[in-house]
Amino acid sequence: MSLLSTQNLTAHYGDFQALFGVDIELGEAETIAIIGANGAGKTTLMRSIAGVLRNEPKAVLYDGIPIGTQPADEIMSQGVAMVPEGRKIFPSLSVEENLLIGTYGRKIKGHWTLDTVYELFPILGERRNTPGTALSGGQQQMVAIGRALMSNPRVLLCDEISLGLAPVVIKDIYQAIPQIKTAGASLIVVEQDIAQAMAVADRVYCMMEGRITLTGTPDSLSRDDIHDAYFGAGH
Ligand SMILES: Nc1ncnc2c1ncn2[C@@H]1O[C@H](COP(=O)(O)OP(=O)(O)O)[C@@H](O)[C@H]1O
Ligand SMILES: [Mg+2]
Repeated sequence: MSLLSTQNLTAHYGDFQALFGVDIELGEAETIAIIGANGAGKTTLMRSIAGVLRNEPKAVLYDGIPIGTQPADEIMSQGVAMVPEGRKIFPSLSVEENLLIGTYGRKIKGHWTLDTVYELFPILGERRNTPGTALSGGQQQMVAIGRALMSNPRVLLCDEISLGLAPVVIKDIYQAIPQIKTAGASLIVVEQDIAQAMAVADRVYCMMEGRITLTGTPDSLSRDDIHDAYFGAGH
């Protein structure tokens, strides 16, 4: 049985349909990547899983339980945490205050505390009293990841954590992923950087126009397959 899955998941913004029957599965201790162009529906999929967008009850199953109609705070307290697109940290709060927000309402105790987040990202420990506004983009991204970890999630949803960052900073951030997995989380990583997705994921799903167009292990997928699934055949 998978830890988390979506079944025939749809999503709408008013009259606009953004997802059309999306099925994905995440196993225990697995990392999957969702790749696709801008507007493919990746963030909508993450929001649907996290309960920010409401669904049919059985469209999202977590640990065998239908959570499609549960509110976001309830889903988070059961162990599904999101690192949102664009980081969304509180600029007027310090690093430490931002991290502590991740513990609000948490029910799960585990590996992640302020101390272990500062071990994972030492620069955050050094800058613990610095306000969000004074952080670099990479440091803000580390705060967003740390904040999600503070709830000790079983499932961590990462939406475009490398977007807009320099390659050296992306490397620093992705270096943290093995430790996050060792601490017990399964990951869904949304990426536009195909090479990064291939490097980190056990399996990859490609999305286009609200549908899954391709899935497989990184070594089973050819560049041409991915190109067609990403941009549509004939582009
Ligand atoms: N709040 C919204 N209101 C209306 N349409 C939206 C909203 N958010 C996203 N969309 C539309 O839904 C589609 C999927 O968007 P999104 O999930 O953000 O894609 P991605 O994360 O892959 O770039 C796009 O066509 C986008 O314009
Ligand atoms: Mg997005």
